[in-house]
Amino acid sequence: MPKRFARVIKHASREKRRRSGSISSVAEESLSNAQLVQAYNRQETEIARFERENLGHFEAYMMSARAKALVSPLVSLIGMACALAVIGMGVWMLSEARLSLGELLVFLTYLGSLYGPIRGLGRLGTTVYAASAAAERIAEFQDEQPSVLDRPDARPLRHARGLIEFENVSFHYPRAQRHVLTEVAFRVEPGETVALVGPSGAGKSTIAKLLLRFYEPDEGEIRLDGHDLRDLQVQALRENVAVLLQEALVFDASVRENIAYGRPNATEEEIVRAAKAADAHEFIAGLPHGYATVVGQKGRRLSGGQRQRIAIARAMIRNAPILILDEPTTDLDPESGQRILEPLRRLMSGRTTIIISHNLVTVREATAILVLREGRVIEQGTHVELMRWDGTYAALYRLCQDQDPASVIPGRDLAPQRQMVP
Ligand SMILES: Nc1ncnc2c1ncn2[C@@H]1O[C@H](COP(=O)(O)OP(=O)(O)O)[C@@H](O)[C@H]1O
Ligand SMILES: [Mg+2]
Repeated sequence: MPKRFARVIKHASREKRRRSGSISSVAEESLSNAQLVQAYNRQETEIARFERENLGHFEAYMMSARAKALVSPLVSLIGMACALAVIGMGVWMLSEARLSLGELLVFLTYLGSLYGPIRGLGRLGTTVYAASAAAERIAEFQDEQPSVLDRPDARPLRHARGLIEFENVSFHYPRAQRHVLTEVAFRVEPGETVALVGPSGAGKSTIAKLLLRFYEPDEGEIRLDGHDLRDLQVQALRENVAVLLQEALVFDASVRENIAYGRPNATEEEIVRAAKAADAHEFIAGLPHGYATVVGQKGRRLSGGQRQRIAIARAMIRNAPILILDEPTTDLDPESGQRILEPLRRLMSGRTTIIISHNLVTVREATAILVLREGRVIEQGTHVELMRWDGTYAALYRLCQDQDPASVIPGRDLAPQRQMVP
């Protein structure tokens, strides 16, 4: 019986904890995406989703409350039964004259005071079972192993030159069956730029994640300056890489702190220099408190283009020899996208760059272009070579031009953003 209770209480507490976690994540998700929810008229669904989670939590709570409500009367009942047995026994002994009335009374009084602590022990039991369910969750987290670990003999890497090589890299995500990358091979010389193009889901961002060693390839080898990434210290590798993503991440802190995030000990002068190179100094100076202005949660007080320029300044100050740009202009309107091209070029110069972009005009200047489809490199070469080859890339490029004749003009023109149609 007590085992059964223990199981019910443990299960209920576990469920309660899990549910209250998902309530807050559902709430956070719907509230922070409030605009999306409203624009798509999904308020009802979001409310229903929240109610479902809430109801689940309520049920789990009720289950544990019921179990607890059952335990304490049961303990009382057992206590009562014992007391009755003692009184019965006492009365019998009294009639047999083996016990005086006084002795019986004293015994009963002491029995009464024993009753409280026994009840307490019962409650303690439920608390212990509930706590052990919570402890299990913590233990689960503690048992999580990072997917990449430094080898005991992993070496540091000061300032990489920036030679990147992928050799027949195949990869699938843990717990997924399908191969996301199959025998991907390419090489980027220090300071050069390789562009990855292809429909979404082709595996472009996965290549960036492998280079940052968020995952390790199943087959093949990725090398930086000739060292297999697995032989390098993860931290040393990442110190050599600066990343710019589609949505510029900013923290709810001052502009100064956001820029210096790339190198916390940067001086004021270095921060301003980086901001100037990122074309951000002007608008920062115009903010109410200049570099001390706090940008708000998710950088609410800045436009997308401004956030991206702060992210560029952050990457500048980090001064890493390798740069990963994963669709840095996709989220911006054409004009803002245009405005960050020049700072981006400044950032890219002298660094090994992997740029992922739907904008084939930014891609055209790359030293090499890789066209990916379903995790395979289907074409590889310079813009001119690929145009001459007249395959997928050429077709996509012509499609871009048809949509936007301005981008036909050769050279370093800055054409407006165009989405590549997969
Ligand atoms: N963390 C992940 N776990 C499992 N599958 C993933 C994960 N991230 C991406 N994928 C899958 O891998 C494929 C390639 O994704 P991705 O590299 O992001 O493509 P791209 O950047 O070219 O749009 C997609 O089919 C995607 O669904
Ligand atoms: Mg991607």
